[in-house]
Amino acid sequence: RKKVVIAVAGSLFLLGASKSEDVKLLEEAKRYFQPLPKVADSKENPITPEKVRLGKMLYYDPRLSKSGLISCNTCHNLATYGVDNLPTSVGHRWQIGPRNAPTTLNAALHIAQFWDGRAKDVEEQAKGPILNPIEMAMDSPQEVIQRLSTIPEYVELFKKAFPNDKNALSYDNVAKAIGAFERTLITPSRFDKFLQGDVNALTKKEKEGLKTFIEVGCAGCHNGPALGGNMFMKFGVVEAYWEATRDFVTLDKPTVPVDVGRFAVTHKQEDLYVFKVPSLRNVSRTYPYFHDGSVWSLEDAVQVMAKVQLGKELNKDQVEKIVAFLKTLDGEIPKDALEVPILPASTSKTPKPVR
Ligand code: HEM
Ligand code: HEM
Repeated sequence: RKKVVIAVAGSLFLLGASKSEDVKLLEEAKRYFQPLPKVADSKENPITPEKVRLGKMLYYDPRLSKSGLISCNTCHNLATYGVDNLPTSVGHRWQIGPRNAPTTLNAALHIAQFWDGRAKDVEEQAKGPILNPIEMAMDSPQEVIQRLSTIPEYVELFKKAFPNDKNALSYDNVAKAIGAFERTLITPSRFDKFLQGDVNALTKKEKEGLKTFIEVGCAGCHNGPALGGNMFMKFGVVEAYWEATRDFVTLDKPTVPVDVGRFAVTHKQEDLYVFKVPSLRNVSRTYPYFHDGSVWSLEDAVQVMAKVQLGKELNKDQVEKIVAFLKTLDGEIPKDALEVPILPASTSKTPKPVR
């Protein structure tokens, strides 16, 4: 009987120990990470249902491109977690761009947009690709507005979304509507449940992965609610990144030009090879990895990071655990965003697509 009592007491003690270990990990995790907000609202462009509805239609509408073929959703396909799963994107007339398309999911939370942070928010960002000659290739904001103005249903929707604007159908408002839609693309996951106090939301292995992610030093850069997106850092702190990613490059180009990153924006020496630290939300789905899309497997990407950012060689077990943790960041895309909108038909006045 004594033995039984000891055994029971012992297992209760162990249970207590592992419980407090979980609680310790949770406390530690909360120092680095926060749960996602419901939406990424903004003072300058407050979310309204009318704006979001219009923004969603514009996001899915290929008529915002010269060819009538390419929409935001072509490269940021919500069916594949807001990316195109290509090393670098294909745009107007099959032109291949220099960088990998990051996901639009949770992007509104970032301190700035693009790999080099050259747009301040999703509204400013949205104006870029429509006019970019290798992306959607429209000639001018006027061309975009002229096209939309030939579609009466759009004219009405702009009036409803921007009731206080005399000139509701404007390029600024195209960007604001798309931005408002993007501000709703927030994808909570099991990791948020954990951060909110449910220590059983993650498995033992995933929790070990979280612990490893923090201990190894990943959380020094990938932190906050999006586990990234809130700072700029050099890619290749310890060694040149292209030395580490070169072996992985599968592009049909013999050599990939070295991307100078934020240097191109600020022209400051200290910004050479500096990029926005990407969010790791949904990262298991947004392959291939890095600004050049050079690495296809998440395991390899984790190894590259440890090597070039931290000067560490991780063993197989550490990599496996970190990847198990990263998969807990696969979240739920809002149902509303995934329901494909029926777009208003063109009219006889709508300019024909140009090849
Ligand atoms: C970057 C949204 C159209 C390819 C981004 C980012 C956002 C975004 C929010 C920055 C994300 C971040 O920094 O984390 C949109 C919207 C579009 C659109 C709203 C429609 C108006 C396109 C199209 C393509 C494309 C059609 C492909 C042809 C890319 C690429 C980047 C990017 C390659 C990274 C470029 C760089 O960092 O220099 N997009 N996008 N996007 N998008 Fe789009
Ligand atoms: C990119 C994970 C440590 C800064 C990435 C990516 C992953 C990742 C998976 C690719 C994301 C994508 O392409 O969408 C990790 C892990 C780390 C770690 C598991 C720990 C072993 C760090 C540290 C820093 C950092 C310590 C800052 C010193 C960056 C930057 C990029 C990046 C700047 C973008 C690189 C580029 O493509 O230009 N990280 N990371 N990471 N990480 Fe880390």
